[in-house]
Amino acid sequence: MQLVLFIAYFIGIFSVDALENLSRRPTTVLTQSSTYRFNIASFANDGDVQTTEPKCAITALNPPKAWLQVDFGQPYRINNVKIYPRREGDGPSAWKQYRFRQFYLDASNSSATQTTTSQRSRCYTDNTTAPDLPPNIIDIPCKQTARYVIVETTYDAPEDEITGGAILEICEIEVYGCEVDTYGVDCMPCIGCQYCDISSGVCDACEEMLMLSP
Ligand SMILES: *[C@@H]1O[C@H](CO)[C@@H](O)[C@H](O)[C@H]1NC(C)=O
Ligand SMILES: *[C@@H]1O[C@H](CO)[C@@H](O)[C@H](O)[C@H]1NC(C)=O
Ligand SMILES: *[C@@H]1O[C@H](CO)[C@@H](O)[C@H](O)[C@H]1NC(C)=O
Repeated sequence: MQLVLFIAYFIGIFSVDALENLSRRPTTVLTQSSTYRFNIASFANDGDVQTTEPKCAITALNPPKAWLQVDFGQPYRINNVKIYPRREGDGPSAWKQYRFRQFYLDASNSSATQTTTSQRSRCYTDNTTAPDLPPNIIDIPCKQTARYVIVETTYDAPEDEITGGAILEICEIEVYGCEVDTYGVDCMPCIGCQYCDISSGVCDACEEMLMLSP
């Protein structure tokens, strides 16, 4: 008996789950507001973090607004979102993340087509102004429970002399999170209830009342 408990204890310790990259779940669907050439939205969750043009999801030239949406199909507990913007080469002909200035990141339970940004929960607003550039890789804390993560922009980069409009070039977007019935960064299952406080694991109040009622 003690041996069984001993083994169970160690399995418990070593089977602790960690944050999962929710973008890579087979049921996660990426869409974008429009598509430039063959640069479809799913290039941003193909597991390839290279940042050259053929590896990126890119929206069409000229519209005033562009977005890319990650749909998990149901709400998940999101912790952080890591974005790899397009960036290639060095020297005068290099392509930098000019078009990524002033983007914003929202979490939502309704899709990008059904909501405006004011109806979502904002996780991040970039305030970079030209000629400065946002970071090469952007890792954003976004502690929200939500079905959708939406990257959106209305920024028209001055480097785009001929083409205008807002353009998104996302080579990879990783969304780290857990199932909703878990707590802590280790995604531990709630104990004694279905839903619990995401940091402490304390069962949700209304559920405890249900459990106490005969
Ligand atoms: C998440 O996905 C990226 C590629 O998109 C991969 O490199 C990384 O290892 C994944 N991380 C986890 C924790 O699954
Ligand atoms: C999404 O819905 C869940 C309940 O299913 C709720 O807890 C969460 O706060 C909602 N998220 C947003 C961003 O509205
Ligand atoms: C950008 O500016 C807005 C409005 O002033 C502010 O709420 C936000 O925190 C700023 N973003 C960053 C990354 O500092």
